[in-house]
Parts: sequence; structure tokens; C-alpha cells
Amino acid sequence: MHLHLNGLRQSTVGHTAIGLWRHPDSQAHRYRDLGYWIETARILERGKFDALFVADALGPLDVYQGSVDAALRDGIQTPTDDPLLPISAMAAATEHLGFSVTVSSTYELPYAFARKMTTLDHLTAGRIGWNIVTSALDSAARNLGLDKQLAHDDRYARAEEFMEVVYKLWEGSWADDAVVRSDVFADPSKVRPIQHDGIHYRVPGIALSEPGILRTPVLYQAGTSPVGRAFAGRHAEGVFLSAYLPSMARTLVDGVRAEAVAAGRDPSAVKFFAIATVIVAETDAAARAKLADYQRYASVEGALARWSALMHIDLSTLDLDKPLEYVETDGIRGMVELFTTLDPSRTWTPRAIAEFVGVGGGGPVIVGSPATVADELERWAAESGVDGFNIADPVPPVTFRDFVDLAVPELQRRGLTRTEYEGGTLREHFYGPGVTRVRDDHPAAAYRFGGR
Ligand SMILES: Cc1cc2nc3c(=O)[nH]c(=O)nc-3n(C[C@H](O)[C@H](O)[C@H](O)COP(=O)(O)O)c2cc1C
Repeated sequence: MHLHLNGLRQSTVGHTAIGLWRHPDSQAHRYRDLGYWIETARILERGKFDALFVADALGPLDVYQGSVDAALRDGIQTPTDDPLLPISAMAAATEHLGFSVTVSSTYELPYAFARKMTTLDHLTAGRIGWNIVTSALDSAARNLGLDKQLAHDDRYARAEEFMEVVYKLWEGSWADDAVVRSDVFADPSKVRPIQHDGIHYRVPGIALSEPGILRTPVLYQAGTSPVGRAFAGRHAEGVFLSAYLPSMARTLVDGVRAEAVAAGRDPSAVKFFAIATVIVAETDAAARAKLADYQRYASVEGALARWSALMHIDLSTLDLDKPLEYVETDGIRGMVELFTTLDPSRTWTPRAIAEFVGVGGGGPVIVGSPATVADELERWAAESGVDGFNIADPVPPVTFRDFVDLAVPELQRRGLTRTEYEGGTLREHFYGPGVTRVRDDHPAAAYRFGGR
């Protein structure tokens, strides 16, 4: 079994590593440049990655000091561009790399969204994945027509119905042989309206797109609160985790796998990817020097501002040197757990969090020669049960390029990652050649045209 690799990015200058866009080698400011995305995609394909994983946020980060100023000063996910639009261009420049893109179920309408994803299924020839998030920023809610954010668990309830609608559109509206393209283009008896009439959505009609190769895009989920884990157990084919110790990731992996079993699924069908920042160089000493160089650019205030927004806790109002306690917020509860309850063996102060996440986001920072890095990734996967990693890019695209040029050959030599792609689509990267549609034990399968 190979480890799966994704590259992790957001269309912004400051994503997991805060302040590092100031490093002279960083190309982060080129997120507005198509050439930058194409170059990124080609690097990851050279490393035989499953996918580029693109995070997103729909509002500015304004929790810290109740203002957007710190986020603007450090460029923390603010400004940020739309993640879907560069995908066609990257797909045209690659053959195998998948694209897993974050889109919020809270702010999309399922009918239009289903068509967008099917369009990308067509244009990428089956290389599209969707990271289902419910969103966590109040600023997004306020700018998208609400007074404030829907409550945490209500967002998931809405997401549940959203999934039902898009499954009906993707799986159940058009038969495989609906398009005949002879005397008629499509056979009307093989295209049916979905007639969805629910609590949040009413969608009577037929899917507007004919089916893509995948039909349902490969489904990822990020969010590890109890209700998030249950949602992942039902719907996710891939789960994106944030944990800084393998034992913490193990708790999340076991939790979601148990939910998958409860939902009647094969738990091994859910693949887990832990965020990891890898600083690799020819030798351990050179890698440590590289990390020290990067750390000089890390912004403590920026990190406090980012994590204030993720957790919905204004860290500027707390004593920076007093341990953080778990509170049930309307932010990303999985991120609050990360620095409070998930590792009972230690406490975290806001200052310690900010210093820790400066270069590494919410995961391990693995530093060393190719051999050291491969040892550590191997140990991490064995102890945590994850299937692979979302590799962050703190100094884009230098970190990706270093990883692909230095770490990947060592991982391949050990038989830990693939040396060739075996299938053409993203779902085949997950489950092997020939598996382009959702598995029979996935809930989307229940909506197939004409039944299972
Ligand atoms: C590792 C991880 C990554 C996430 N990435 C994103 C993201 O890119 N965009 C986003 O809006 N939400 C993201 N979320 C949060 C989701 O919006 C999530 O559905 C919601 O906040 C609930 O998370 P929870 O179940 O941990 O509370 C992420 C959450 C986690 C744990």
C-alpha cells in the first residue's frame, strides 16, 4: 500500500505559514498568476502526487482584535481568490494530477454547484475532488447575506441535505446511456427530474449537465468535531486532518472509521491525510539551517490572528502565557480541540501556539535529509494510521520543489510512494485502476439511476 500525497495550498499569500511571503525566495504573491498555478501542478505531477488540495475561506479574517488589520498586514488568507478558476488551466498542463477544491456547502446552492463540479469533471477528465466544508467565519456569513453565522451543528444539518440533493443530481438524473447522439441527442425517457423537496432545498428538475466520468466528484471532508466526524464517516472518501502528533491523528482516524462502520461502509474506503510541513535538504544540518532561515520570517501576531479566526477565540483578549481551555465555539472545533483536549499530556498558551504554528500550520514540521524525512513520514503513518499527507508549501513553490526533488526519490526507493500513475482519474488514485464511480457502499450509490 502506497502513501498518498497531496499538495496543500490556498489562493492567497499567507496560508499555513504566516509571514513567510516576505522570504526572498517565496513566490507566494504570484497566486494571481496562472503561470504560478501551472508550475505548481507540474511539480506535483512530477512527484506523482494524487492531487493539489486547495483550501478556501469566504470572508476576511477579522476575529483578532475585532478587526481585519492584522490579517491585511500579514496577508493571512486575506486577500484570497476563488479556488476553482485556475483548475482548468492546470488540468490542461497535466495528465494525471487530481484537484481537490474546497467549497462550502453553507453558501452554495446545490443545483448550480452540482453543475460547476460536473463541468470540472468533464474538463479535467475525471480528476476533480470536492473538499466539503461547512465554513467557520462569521465574516463570510455577514458578507453573504446573513446577520451572523448559522450555528455549528445547523451548518452540518444543512450540509447533510445538500449532499442528498447533489447525489440525486450527479447519480440519479441521467442514465449512463441517456446520451445517444443519433437521431436525437439525448433520450428523454432516460433523463429524470430529481423532485427533491426538503427542509432547506427544493430542486424539482433534471441535472443540467450530462454525467461526467466520476459522476460524484471524489469527496473529501475537513472538520473533526463530533458531528464533523459523523458527517465524514458517512460521506468522505478522503479526510483532511490537522494534528501535530501521530497519537492525536490516530484518535481522529479511529473516530471517523468507527463512524464509517456505523454508516455501513468499509472503513478502509476512507483515506486520511494529515497536514505536514516538510523542510528537506541534502543533509540534516542543511535542512535545520533552512528551517531557521524560514523561522526568521514567521509572524507571531499573524499566527495569533489566523488562529483566532479558525477557533473563533480572540486571542488578543487572553493572557498570552496562560493555558488555553476548550470552549465550544462556532468556529472550527477540531482546531480548538487540537490545542486543548486532543493531547491531554500538554497544555498550550496562545504564545506557544503562535510560535509553534508559525512555519508549520496545524501539523508536524518534519526537518532533515531525504532519509530522515522518509523515516519520519513512515513512522507518522504507521503510528497514526493515516494513508498519506497534505504537504504544505510555506515558501511556494520552493517547498514543493524541494520535496519532489529530494524527498520523493527516497520515498519511491523505499516503495512508499508510487513511481507511476496507474489510473487516469482521481478516484483511481484512491482505489486503483478501473474505479471511477463511488463504491457501492457509499451513500451516493443509493441514488443511482435505476437503483444500485
Ligand atoms: C484540517 C481542517 C481543514 C479545514 N479547511 C477548511 C478550509 O479550507 N475552508 C473552510 O472554510 N473550512 C475549513 N475547515 C473547517 C470546515 O469549515 C468545517 O466544516 C467546520 O468549520 C467545522 O469543523 P469542525 O467539525 O472541526 O468544527 C477545515 C477544518 C479542518 C479541521
